[in-house]
Amino acid sequence: MRKMIDIDFGSTRYDELVELRYKVLLEPLGLKFLDSHRQKEMNYLHIGCVECLDDKLVGGLMLAPVDNDTVRLLQVAVDTKYQREGIGRAMVEYAKQRAREAGYKKMFIHARLTAIHFYEKIGFHQEGDIFEEQGLTFAKMVIDL
Ligand SMILES: CC(C)(COP(=O)(O)OP(=O)(O)OC[C@H]1O[C@@H](n2cnc3c(N)ncnc32)[C@H](O)[C@@H]1OP(=O)(O)O)[C@@H](O)C(=O)NCCC(=O)NCCS
Repeated sequence: MRKMIDIDFGSTRYDELVELRYKVLLEPLGLKFLDSHRQKEMNYLHIGCVECLDDKLVGGLMLAPVDNDTVRLLQVAVDTKYQREGIGRAMVEYAKQRAREAGYKKMFIHARLTAIHFYEKIGFHQEGDIFEEQGLTFAKMVIDL
């Protein structure tokens, strides 16, 4: 069984989440996680998915407030060993519920090209053209909450 958890910024779980995100999202692209990233994340909502059997963190994401109506989804990552088992979908559903409870009406993510179909599968649609950011190609994927 797995469960979704809220993760406190600066906690041991947060360190685990940073490590997981590094392995899944940054390391394969030769990117580093800088300490300056941490400060930006202080006011974000951090969400994780935990395997109950061994208490292992198997996925995570962040929500960043943009304005009163809009929240941005960031760094959605599932441990490579656990991908395609429904964890990504379940985490985003949980994040949408948390965002609705906080009064947000719209969610978006700048998705890597390789993940666009995942976001389409879970109800997001593309807004605008694909674009480049720091040498990577993204599409803005949006969903009403
Ligand atoms: C992309 C990612 C978050 C998806 O999480 P996941 O747990 O593997 O996905 P799920 O099992 O919940 O998949 C939900 C649906 O999307 C599909 N899907 C998942 N990843 C997909 C992909 N990369 N391309 C196309 N379809 C995908 C699944 O087949 C499933 O479809 P179904 O409902 O018809 O069975 C995860 O694979 C991951 O961490 N990938 C590497 C990092 C990354 O690219 N993150 C996104 C950054 S924007």
